[in-house]
Amino acid sequence: MTGKVPWRIREFRASDIQQIMEIETTAFPKSAYSKEILLMYALRLPASFFVLETEDGIEGYIIYDLDGHIYSMAVRSSGRRGGFGRALFVQALEHVKDILWLEVRSKNLIAIEFYRKMGMRVTAKVGGYYDTDDALIMAIDKKAPNQFF
Ligand SMILES: CC(C)(COP(=O)(O)OP(=O)(O)OC[C@H]1O[C@@H](n2cnc3c(N)ncnc32)[C@H](O)[C@@H]1OP(=O)(O)O)[C@@H](O)C(=O)NCCC(=O)NCCS
Repeated sequence: MTGKVPWRIREFRASDIQQIMEIETTAFPKSAYSKEILLMYALRLPASFFVLETEDGIEGYIIYDLDGHIYSMAVRSSGRRGGFGRALFVQALEHVKDILWLEVRSKNLIAIEFYRKMGMRVTAKVGGYYDTDDALIMAIDKKAPNQFF
């Protein structure tokens, strides 16, 4: 899809929040960030909270910090499997200095497969991180992409 419709990645604006909340609550029905938390990230990380938009509106977003920690990313369910996730991930990878890393719910097999395809590898498991679910820590070092297995 990224090849089929015009799109661009730009910094988050406060007026995006309603569309981001729609994507967030659909993507994470049990554990969505609140509007307040997302706006707090926008204030704390104004240079690394990005949205991907088309003529129809916001299709996805990514929040990370310049030390390489991804806090959240999601693509609108109707826009998935079209390359928008990859485009957001690549933007972050190009922006950070060395490493990108994140926690992902161990049952979130789609996200784990997506991050594997992006070159990330599991580096640790944290039992009970999400109350009843474990977290996997996944990482990629852009200067040594084969370092983590
Ligand atoms: C994970 C997520 C962001 C991926 O976004 P996306 O726009 O669908 O991803 P892309 O289209 O760029 O996919 C890139 C590659 O990842 C892999 N991939 C993506 N979704 C996949 C799926 N459902 N099943 C298997 N592989 C998948 C594929 O290899 C894909 O390449 P291909 O389509 O050429 O085969 C999206 O599924 C999402 O928003 N999920 C819900 C929120 C979430 O779990 N976020 C991560 C929390 S840590």
